[in-house]
Amino acid sequence: MAIQAPEGTFDLLPDEARHWDFFRRTAFEIFGRYGYRPIETPLFEQTELFVRGIGEATDVVSKEMFTAISGGNLQKLLNGEKLKGKSRLSLRPEGTAGVVRAVVQHDLVPQGGAPVKLMYAGPMFRAERPQKGRLRQFRQVGIECLGAEEPTVDAEAIIMLMRFFERIGIPAGDMRLLVNSMGCERCRPAYRELVRDFIRAHVDELCEECNHRAEVNPLRAFDCKNPDCARIMADAPKITDHLCPECREHYEAVKGHLEHAGLSYIEDPKLVRGLDYYTRTVFEVQVDNGMGSQNAIGGGGRYDKLAKEVGGRDTPGLGFALGYERCVLALEAAGANMMSPQSVDVFFACATDDVRPAAFEMAQIVRDAGTTAELDHQHRSLKSQFKLADKLGARRVAILGPDELAQGKVKVRDMGTHEEHLLDIDAMERFFGQFGGKKFGE
Ligand code: HAM
Repeated sequence: MAIQAPEGTFDLLPDEARHWDFFRRTAFEIFGRYGYRPIETPLFEQTELFVRGIGEATDVVSKEMFTAISGGNLQKLLNGEKLKGKSRLSLRPEGTAGVVRAVVQHDLVPQGGAPVKLMYAGPMFRAERPQKGRLRQFRQVGIECLGAEEPTVDAEAIIMLMRFFERIGIPAGDMRLLVNSMGCERCRPAYRELVRDFIRAHVDELCEECNHRAEVNPLRAFDCKNPDCARIMADAPKITDHLCPECREHYEAVKGHLEHAGLSYIEDPKLVRGLDYYTRTVFEVQVDNGMGSQNAIGGGGRYDKLAKEVGGRDTPGLGFALGYERCVLALEAAGANMMSPQSVDVFFACATDDVRPAAFEMAQIVRDAGTTAELDHQHRSLKSQFKLADKLGARRVAILGPDELAQGKVKVRDMGTHEEHLLDIDAMERFFGQFGGKKFGE
């Protein structure tokens, strides 16, 4: 049997890849208006970064990481040797840890310096059980803002995220914005103990995993997908009833800014998100239409301790990431047209073989002028060349015949109206140049 793409991955075929390109460019264009600048970090990092940054007890780190072993190290492992920290590598399960590592490594937020706003897009890897909207390699677009703890930064990022979703065609009415505050190192430890006590008091009613979570990281029990656990955890103490005055003030300010911007949101005190680095604001955007059980199209929050955790100085931060493939499911459900096949502006067809060199040269001239041009390389008949032009969606066909060429002309047929006219070869570059530079969706 022919080899297939690995489970939980898929190919983006040309029209889909064009949509991903459009999606990413649109995001960067919008985020750029808010001052975000692109950054690219490696697809793999030292495993230690994710363990310290995302948290050892999270599902993402404890169960879902793809570990990368280079050839030489594989032999060492097989010989029973232990690998040194630097040689223990994992594919990135998300982008935040790597970006924060880069900010620290390159000192992008010098002491007392202005905040840095960064945006990224690319594949992430999680060894999850594949299902609808849950892949092992998926694409994220994300932003991280480091160096500012003011609530306007949180509100600005959330507003920007919602603006982007609407711009790419997810109807506002299909989306639900959930917000919460996770507190800080001052108020969260006491709250965590309350949740631990709550879980212990319901030991027989909660699943084994939740009971285990009580010992390691009790807040993770809010993420449990078991419906019985979800029902019981709904009565657990709520973090928003236990915030310290500073966190409460911050949370109220974020909500105030969202309201002022006319954004509707739902407060969800059970929203804890699956990564351990969050402090204070967390948020998630969910869609029901077209999604399986995985209904979050994007999410993020504040992580004021992460830079320090990965070895930098205390630097507050906030960011979000959105999942491309889940956005596609939401767009499909909303009936959005995502296919905009690349069309050919002009197809050069040859009536006889001896004009082929001229067609080759002319196609090059109009391409240099910014136009999409194609021609047949396989000596097809004129009829088959027209069929090919049709298949490629060519808007015009330039028909090269020896008689016209001798007069310095080509015949141009508009494939929509079927009208034909003779064009001076000298005017060709200007004529076809005006059709060039078409982008996705035009
Ligand atoms: P996350 O919630 O783990 O957050 O992922 C963000 C988005 O990526 C999700 O809302 C979802 O749309 C998509 N996603 C996650 N896992 C999968 C998967 N297995 N298959 C398909 N899509 C998936 C983060 O990754 C944080 N780094 C966000 C952040 C940035 N927080 C602060 N800054």
